[in-house]
Amino acid sequence: MSVLDLSSVFDFLYALFIYARGFIFGRKCHSTARLNGKTVIVTGGNTGIGKETVLDLASRGAKVILACRDVQKGYEAVMDISEKVIKPNLVVNRLDLASFASIKSFAQDDLENEPYIHILINNAGVAALPKSLTEDGYEMQFGVNHLRHFLLTHLLLDRIKASAPARIINVPSIAHICGHIDLSDINLNSNYSPATAYFRSKLANVLFTRELAKRLKGTGVTTYCLHPGALYTTLSRHIEYSMSKFSGWLYEFCSRLFFKSPMIGAQTTIYCAVEEKLANESGNYYCYDVIHKRFLESIRASPC
Ligand SMILES: NC(=O)c1ccc[n+]([C@@H]2O[C@H](COP(=O)([O-])OP(=O)(O)OC[C@H]3O[C@@H](n4cnc5c(N)ncnc54)[C@H](OP(=O)(O)O)[C@@H]3O)[C@@H](O)[C@H]2O)c1
Repeated sequence: MSVLDLSSVFDFLYALFIYARGFIFGRKCHSTARLNGKTVIVTGGNTGIGKETVLDLASRGAKVILACRDVQKGYEAVMDISEKVIKPNLVVNRLDLASFASIKSFAQDDLENEPYIHILINNAGVAALPKSLTEDGYEMQFGVNHLRHFLLTHLLLDRIKASAPARIINVPSIAHICGHIDLSDINLNSNYSPATAYFRSKLANVLFTRELAKRLKGTGVTTYCLHPGALYTTLSRHIEYSMSKFSGWLYEFCSRLFFKSPMIGAQTTIYCAVEEKLANESGNYYCYDVIHKRFLESIRASPC
């Protein structure tokens, strides 16, 4: 057998492995709901879970706004998606969640140009960063993952309410169960660790979803949060700087072998965005099509 044949066999086996892994560990959203005439915003829509979500929702007929900090990456994603979806209705708009000014300008632009916002997906995120601050002086992971999505949601809320029925979806992580928020040390000045900072930002996503559900009761706007699974994306790109080169390498190695693809990871987000059965549910936590009450109950338990 030639070297070429061997590498093709390896490629085939690897593809089979990836497929089997997705088959065993992931389920697809089976809703056939269409989104013609609907407008969706996806933060971080240029890569990972966000990009797969954009692809799916665009294929259902939605107009999707990719809110990206790097518009060039946004346009590259649009080119990729356009090869898979016929005439997708996609718009790229700059949004840097590390800057209040950028969020205000993004929201203003949307409010001027979009008469409706039916689905807001607060997906963008960072993880495992060495300690750093946003432009306005907040600890970066809390700032990007929670505070800025909180602000964005509130700036767009009246338009979302006016578009009801509408949905707001936050993308935390099962990591929230290890989160603890100390309001007296919001920048973690006394005890910063890359993991702790990520966990508490994700806990904040869950609490935000719950509280928003209560406050939006009766408005026709429902909220959802979820765990997408452990996925092979660029989220872990900072581990080698915040921890060590070896940790980065180990994480990369394990995630290549065992983590799910972003396409499988996007299924819960897509489910929360389109599934008709969820129209009257609000404030719950999902993993695929299952509500995880235990994840919510863990919030009341003491943090680990
Ligand atoms: N991957 C997992 O295993 C996993 C597990 C649980 C939860 N999650 C959550 O899923 C969400 C998506 O993660 P992913 O795995 O798809 O990661 P990803 O591939 O790294 O995508 C993250 C997205 O967020 C964007 N982003 C980062 N900082 C930003 C900023 N300051 N302003 C605007 N956009 C910013 C990135 O933009 P650039 O491309 O320009 O950097 C990228 O589009 C995150 O909230 C994450 O916490 C992921």
